Amino acid sequence: MQTQLSFDVVEAKFVKSSKALDQCPAANKPEYAFIGRSNVGKSSLINMLANNKNLAKTSQTPGKTQLINHFIADDKWFIVDLPGYGFAKVSKSDREAWEQMIYEYLSQRENLLCIFVLVDSRLEPQKIDLEFMLWLGESQLPFSIVFTKTDKLSASQLKTNVENYKKVLLEYFEEFPRFFITSSEKKVGNTEILSFIKELNQNFK
Ligand code: GTP
Ligand code: MG
Repeated sequence: MQTQLSFDVVEAKFVKSSKALDQCPAANKPEYAFIGRSNVGKSSLINMLANNKNLAKTSQTPGKTQLINHFIADDKWFIVDLPGYGFAKVSKSDREAWEQMIYEYLSQRENLLCIFVLVDSRLEPQKIDLEFMLWLGESQLPFSIVFTKTDKLSASQLKTNVENYKKVLLEYFEEFPRFFITSSEKKVGNTEILSFIKELNQNFK
């Protein structure tokens, strides 16, 4: 059998936005969720992967994505755009509602094969990201790290930041998770993430 190394998404479509897990589409296809701080570049990354600039709404205004947004790629796998965390202007009750929705979805969605945690490659590890990853680890939920906006750094700065990130994370985790270097602006990391998704799709039962 011939194995294809990478693949492109031919057609991605919006499916629905849900307020809670029980409103999500039937869990009958492999699913990947994208999460991270507000404005980190989730929607832009999804659009790069889906090969469609207009699929997920991107914005300059943090906190744009509020619901669990399902998209389907080539009728085979779900892409999920989740609302960002750490948006300063959010009230306590909104934050609690967010936590309830996200934690329920992440811990109970049966077809969720990997959670991509996006972090801004320009920043030092942020407490809120570390706490979130620790929660994922404790909950035994599979996740990968996606460094975003790498076009805004020189190659050497990027290397330094990634090394530093590893160092900090290894104080909490035994192994550094799988990670991806990306730029939605320059289309970097697309092939790597899609190959990984393809690999996981093959094991979906
Ligand atoms: P929320 O849904 O509000 O949480 O934001 P988000 O994480 O979906 O971020 P979004 O994709 O909307 O991007 C936020 C801003 O960052 C936009 O102005 C994007 O154009 C910009 N951006 C996203 N990815 C990249 C990238 O790879 N490089 C550069 N230079 N800018 C990017
Ligand atoms: Mg968004």
